[in-house]
Amino acid sequence: MLLKDKVALITGAGDGIGKAIALAMAREGAHIVSVDIDGDAAKRTANEVGEFHVKELALETDVGDTKQIEDMVVRTIETFGRLDIIVNNAGVTRRAGIMELTEEDWDRIHRVNAKGVFFCLQSAARPMIEQVSGCIINIASIAGRGYIGASNAAYAASKGAVIALTRKASQELGPYNINVNAICPGVTLTPLGERNRVIRAQEQGVSIEQALENSVKPIPIRRANDPEDIAALAVFLASPSARNITGQSYNVDGGLIPS
Ligand SMILES: NC(=O)c1ccc[n+]([C@@H]2O[C@H](COP(=O)([O-])OP(=O)(O)OC[C@H]3O[C@@H](n4cnc5c(N)ncnc54)[C@H](O)[C@@H]3O)[C@@H](O)[C@H]2O)c1
Repeated sequence: MLLKDKVALITGAGDGIGKAIALAMAREGAHIVSVDIDGDAAKRTANEVGEFHVKELALETDVGDTKQIEDMVVRTIETFGRLDIIVNNAGVTRRAGIMELTEEDWDRIHRVNAKGVFFCLQSAARPMIEQVSGCIINIASIAGRGYIGASNAAYAASKGAVIALTRKASQELGPYNINVNAICPGVTLTPLGERNRVIRAQEQGVSIEQALENSVKPIPIRRANDPEDIAALAVFLASPSARNITGQSYNVDGGLIPS
């Protein structure tokens, strides 16, 4: 088992990519803190995690709120006594053209995707600095690297922020034996992807199935990601094999865009 008895906290673990990461890390022996703004969804994931005979804790936390982030880390340390891995996965968006975006869109998206990732990283780094070990994985997006099909410009900017933050944080936290890396998923089959696809289908005047085909066509490997494709890289980055990898952002996109 690659992560035996590590304590891993995953934000946005109630569904999609976060849920797949929680289950994949549990399968490798990690104890899981399942965090979501939807407390019932966090609990559902925690229940599934329990099937792997690891310990679990479900927390209802809005990662856009710094007080709730602090409480999330305090509860984790109270329960498990340490924090080895945090996956900053929670993210929001909506499909919109640049001229349709409002100040409310910008604030809502950056509150979770940029501010949320930064303060989760900072709060998790406190116990990790004391432990002199830790692993931080940020879920960015190929939207932050110029993907033409990105859901909107404010979202792309928030994910660019995550890629830059990953580099800078890795430099400052490296001396404490803390690795910081990011994953940039491409087209991934999750509820978020599905919501965007409904709007895309309306824009293109095609069925939802056809909109998915249109998204997959330019992918060299001709396949969208399952959430498990992202989870597999997260497990590797959290494993001892990745101990000298830090500050990197890896695309998992079937070759859709250059790094
Ligand atoms: N699906 C894709 O195609 C795709 C592509 C690139 C990047 N991503 C990124 O991957 C991450 C996960 O996306 P997904 O597709 O699984 O999304 P999803 O919407 O399917 O699941 C996201 C989960 O995060 C939770 N969440 C939302 N806001 C939150 C908040 N403020 N605090 C805590 N939890 C919150 C939701 O309740 C949900 O359970 C996001 O950062 C997203 O930007 C997704």
